[in-house]
Amino acid sequence: MSRSVPVGLGERAYEVVVGDGLLDAAGRLVAPFLKRGRTAVVSDETVWRLHGERLTAALEAAGVRALPVIVPPGEQTKSFEGLADVCDRLLALELDRGDIVTAFGGGVVGDLAGFAAAIYKRGIDFVQIPTTLLAQVDSSVGGKTAIDTPRGKNLIGAFHQPKLVLADLSVLSTLPDREMRAGYAEIIKYGLLGDRGFFEWLEANAAAVLAREPEALAHAVARSIEMKAEIVAEDEKEQGRRALLNLGHTFGHALESETGYGDALLHGEAVGAGMALAFRFSAGQGLVSGQDAVRATRAIAASGLPTTLQDVAGHPFDAGRLVAHMGQDKKAEGGRLTFILARALGEAFVAKDVDAGAVRDFLVAEGARP
Ligand code: NAD
Ligand code: GLY
Repeated sequence: MSRSVPVGLGERAYEVVVGDGLLDAAGRLVAPFLKRGRTAVVSDETVWRLHGERLTAALEAAGVRALPVIVPPGEQTKSFEGLADVCDRLLALELDRGDIVTAFGGGVVGDLAGFAAAIYKRGIDFVQIPTTLLAQVDSSVGGKTAIDTPRGKNLIGAFHQPKLVLADLSVLSTLPDREMRAGYAEIIKYGLLGDRGFFEWLEANAAAVLAREPEALAHAVARSIEMKAEIVAEDEKEQGRRALLNLGHTFGHALESETGYGDALLHGEAVGAGMALAFRFSAGQGLVSGQDAVRATRAIAASGLPTTLQDVAGHPFDAGRLVAHMGQDKKAEGGRLTFILARALGEAFVAKDVDAGAVRDFLVAEGARP
């Protein structure tokens, strides 16, 4: 059984299909978007080794030739060098405007291949076949594509919507538990930012989702995609409401910056800790009840994600350095800090003009060095 979630963006509208075993139908589902019977498949070595044969067979069964462009796994591939390499290989394959790129992997591959598609010959179409939980519920939907630079993450990029997203739950069977938890952080984010009922469902079903129980996983993924699709359709270019999707990200990015964007702290783990910090900061500012902040923190911790600075490798952090990273965040405007804060479980809002001193004092109270 599969379900389809529309992303209502007018002439850029597309479907996100969620289901178990969709990979085997990929050829039939992707073929309508092809002018010539071929697609460049950008994937990383790990995903390609585990699932490449299955995807190739599914494409071939529908008369589609897969032209693999395999890149090393890991965030360091989302760089100018990685982008140049992918573009060069697409050129070597003589890919044309009528051809499409298939991004087959996690958020790294999706962001990199999507950006390459956005600029290759001034833009060609692409489809997303996300293979991590994080990519299925977040990065493959919404058209944000980017690479990192030494000055920060995702600083060079483009909005480029895919033509189709295929979220096959069966590929998650090979995903390490730690990556499942990292993806789960983005799922709980949707509950916390805008759907209290979903948050309460997750409080009761986190273990089933993380154990990949089919019904629970399908519901969690589909509901997350529905919420993201609805927000993106309303605010594609993040002029307003889409910023809510950054709940936990300002604190999270600061922690990622300090820990080096690597294995020490995965993006989803940083978001987990960041959301707990955002709820406790909101409580300290009298915006949300202490009880709701405790409940948010407990639900995040119950899934095995970090919720305190002490939980994060690299602690103790320096409060001033963390705040300095926040100042450079893309969400900072004119030197003032912008945060996504909460009024209740399921009710987040964009807070501009947050006092950096108050954030610093809060971080010290949370155990950071003054
Ligand atoms: P990732 O792409 O690095 O994948 C994590 C690891 O899992 C990699 O080692 C990968 O090889 C492996 N993997 C992928 N699928 C697998 C599978 N099915 N089985 C076994 N191993 C598998 O990381 P991610 O967490 O998917 O994505 C993180 C990236 O996404 C970051 O660069 C972040 O900036 C970006 N992101 C983008 C958006 C957006 O809106 N564009 C949103 C959130 C995050
Ligand atoms: N991950 C945040 C966004 O897509 O806007």
